[in-house]
Amino acid sequence: MEERVVSQEAHGEEDIAESSIRPIDFSQYIGQEKVKENLEVFIEAAKIREECLDHVLLYGPPGLGKTTLAMIIANEMGVNIRTTSGPAVERPGDLAAVLTALEPGDVLFIDEIHRLPRSVEEVLYPAMEDFCIDIIIGKESTARSVRLDLPPFTLVGATTRAGMLSSPLRDRFGVHSRLEYYNETELAKIVNRSGELLGVQIEEDAALELARRSRGTPRIANRLLRRVRDFAQVKGSSKVSSSLADTALEKLQVDRLGLDEVDHKLLVSIIEKFRGGPVGVEALAATIGEEANTLEDVYEPYLMQIGFLVRTPRGRMVTAQVYEYLQMEVPDRG
Ligand SMILES: Nc1ncnc2c1ncn2[C@@H]1O[C@H](COP(=O)(O)OP(=O)(O)OP(=O)(O)O)[C@@H](O)[C@H]1O
Ligand SMILES: [Mg+2]
Repeated sequence: MEERVVSQEAHGEEDIAESSIRPIDFSQYIGQEKVKENLEVFIEAAKIREECLDHVLLYGPPGLGKTTLAMIIANEMGVNIRTTSGPAVERPGDLAAVLTALEPGDVLFIDEIHRLPRSVEEVLYPAMEDFCIDIIIGKESTARSVRLDLPPFTLVGATTRAGMLSSPLRDRFGVHSRLEYYNETELAKIVNRSGELLGVQIEEDAALELARRSRGTPRIANRLLRRVRDFAQVKGSSKVSSSLADTALEKLQVDRLGLDEVDHKLLVSIIEKFRGGPVGVEALAATIGEEANTLEDVYEPYLMQIGFLVRTPRGRMVTAQVYEYLQMEVPDRG
């Protein structure tokens, strides 16, 4: 698949570069001050009590640092982290195997936790509440339920869609942390930090320009940095200047707000095909040839954040700002 600069998922090259730039403790984790402050207190308190940390639910759009934070939590607690994801745990037995292999105090990280099957979720309830699971041993007439004790552990769940979590599951997390989009200053810091670790020299203005076009998302900031570094390398420049960053970003078709072709297609079709909306997400997705889920998880949250899109009970609508930004005429609604 062609790499999409703005796509908020991780790719192969990124996974490799990742390990060198991913923050490993709170001091390296830039921004999200409220979330960080609270977690630091809870971690400190748990350590004083010599207990494990209460279960933590992390939610927010892709690429804002949920996985990173889960790793930091384990690191700050001084415990191991075991990682799995909602779609990977298909049956109750799969979860039982993961849970019984934990060491006391471990962090169990379940990514995309909203995608756990309901039957698996039910095993998780007593595990979270009482650190035990009920398993069925034997078959048919000889089948009996046996209660197994588990070591105390901390479940860290991550999701891009807190609304899709069942409420019994949501309620069993003692800590709910919502990650927010990063501001320009924070993203510029992230770009500078990553630049240092990757050995890229970057001018202050260039770092700010990358920050402005990263849709509030560290993953995108890091990706743009790597692409801009490629342009610098090929041009033989030892330092990324702001004019070089501009040229590179233009070539990558990332506009001055960080919007890419899909955002443009989305906005333009709402205007041209649906007279500015309201339009349902399914109809919109079909019109521009994207998955409705992708629009909802990746594209819409940022467009809403910058005030370009609003959700109404009857569907999505573009705001007046969009006409101005795209220099399009407001349609006659008569
Ligand atoms: N606060 C931060 N400071 C510095 N770098 C960060 C921060 N948060 C995230 N990053 C960087 O951004 C990238 C994406 O972070 P991460 O993988 O944790 O996102 P995520 O929220 O788990 O995304 P997804 O929803 O797609 O799983 C990583 O490369 C990480 O190094
Ligand atoms: Mg993640």
